[in-house]
Amino acid sequence: MTLAIDLTGKVILVCGVARGGIGGSTARQIAKAGGTVIALDKDMAAITPTIADVEALGGTIHAVVADLYDAAACETVIPGILEKFGDFDGVVNVAGGTREGEWMPLDETTTDSFRASMALNFDYVFFICRDAAKAWIARDRGGALVNVSSMSSIASAPWHGPYGAGKSAINALTRTMANEWHEFGIRANAVLPGAVATERVMSRAVAANIADGETNFTQPDELGNMIVFLLSDLANGVSGQSITVDRSLTTKFAGGARASRRQATDAV
Ligand SMILES: NC(=O)c1ccc[n+]([C@@H]2O[C@H](COP(=O)([O-])OP(=O)(O)OC[C@H]3O[C@@H](n4cnc5c(N)ncnc54)[C@H](O)[C@@H]3O)[C@@H](O)[C@H]2O)c1
Repeated sequence: MTLAIDLTGKVILVCGVARGGIGGSTARQIAKAGGTVIALDKDMAAITPTIADVEALGGTIHAVVADLYDAAACETVIPGILEKFGDFDGVVNVAGGTREGEWMPLDETTTDSFRASMALNFDYVFFICRDAAKAWIARDRGGALVNVSSMSSIASAPWHGPYGAGKSAINALTRTMANEWHEFGIRANAVLPGAVATERVMSRAVAANIADGETNFTQPDELGNMIVFLLSDLANGVSGQSITVDRSLTTKFAGGARASRRQATDAV
């Protein structure tokens, strides 16, 4: 007898599906669990490698191109999916991050930079979740929402303050989604990655000479696994939660921290 994550028959929209990122992993794990993926990104170049990966696994995947910085474009996403692909069962909002030039002290952050960070790290998540819930409520059917937040939402986010604030807002709004939409069979959870070894982050980490052992990077599939669990019926009792997946990274800021015993043993 086995207990497996089974998404057979479920259609899941994943926003932000770059092959080397959390979204690419999520798309592949959904396919492995038997689900169909609707892969959204800002251009086909970001989607095509993930289509190849999912098809190589024998899965089904459809592409949607939309710029999530653009509120008007966001509002076409769910109506477009209903028209083209019919009903869907879940949404994973992975797209987010900071762009080159957005790392700066708060006192130097321009209004435009602040607004752009919030657009990609908060606003679109509201638009997509609102429209998905509206569609499910109208059809009298439930669904699962998973919003990717960050450990930067918990304490502070030095030099990426608007990003951290946006991710905190995701956590707060996700709890309200769970509360308001529970009676319609809709669950909503946030997943908080720590430092994840995605292509984007590793290109920056390598540039900054950060060794893997020092930061203890979480792997993209470790996020993908939590996300497919939250999408599945195994998680029917879980809603309104902010779940950190960081190989304990956030615990390292506890008082009374001690040197690693592992490093001491390695040194002998
Ligand atoms: N990697 C980490 O260490 C880490 C840590 C904490 C939180 N996160 C969060 O996890 C998520 C994924 O991060 P990742 O490292 O996998 O990054 P990534 O760059 O690989 O993935 C982000 C995806 O969003 C897409 N995207 C960006 N702008 C878009 C737009 N305007 N419209 C549509 N799509 C757009 C990108 O093309 C890409 O597919 C982000 O929300 C990020 O904030 C990552």
